[in-house]
Amino acid sequence: MLVAPSVLSANFMQLGQDIQMVEAAGAQYLHLDLMDGHFVQNLTFGPEFIKQIRPETKMKLDCHLMVSNPDQYLEQLAANGADILSVHFEGNDHIHALLQQINGLGCASSLVLNPGTAVASVTELLPLVKQVLVMTVNPGFGGQQFIASCLGKMEQLAAYRQEHGLDFNIEVDGGVNSETGQRCVAAGADVLVAGSYVFGQADPAAQVARLLALH
Ligand code: DX5
Ligand code: ZN
Repeated sequence: MLVAPSVLSANFMQLGQDIQMVEAAGAQYLHLDLMDGHFVQNLTFGPEFIKQIRPETKMKLDCHLMVSNPDQYLEQLAANGADILSVHFEGNDHIHALLQQINGLGCASSLVLNPGTAVASVTELLPLVKQVLVMTVNPGFGGQQFIASCLGKMEQLAAYRQEHGLDFNIEVDGGVNSETGQRCVAAGADVLVAGSYVFGQADPAAQVARLLALH
């Protein structure tokens, strides 16, 4: 199991400690939500923030771009140490080119599907990517409720991957806790993103351990 604690729910006044804590607990990815107040109605941070985090951890920096015109930031994010670049199917007219651009930068390309987007809409793109991120909330905020109807998409993606000999990971983001996470794993998820379940609790390391133990 791969676990990706989401910095969105961390305490920014002690971010270094929060990052060390989840890394020591065994988290392999650090999930970083970039929001521009346009693609979603919230604001977070940009490429400079990724640059500052890079020397603080060996975890893979899993960047989720909830921004308009993500092509403007890809090169800088790659240069600043991002490992995985997740871009949305929705709102990106030239999503194929965008994924090619990410691959060309030497990062792992990841395609995000909002709750309203069907797997059938994206099958042409699957051979290009190293990860598919299935949103189980509408993007923008932490602490929302898991949308269970998205579980079927994980099953469809896992079946498609097997049938076509592809090797992308299936990541899930939104409302993940030990109970919903278990259902995602059963449906084929490889990577669990968790914000409030990890950082909103007294012992984030124990929360990471609970997710790592799912199978
Ligand atoms: C929401 C973000 C998530 C967020 C998840 O738009 O993409 O990564 O941090 O938070 P939780 O785990 O609290 O739903
Ligand atoms: Zn996210």
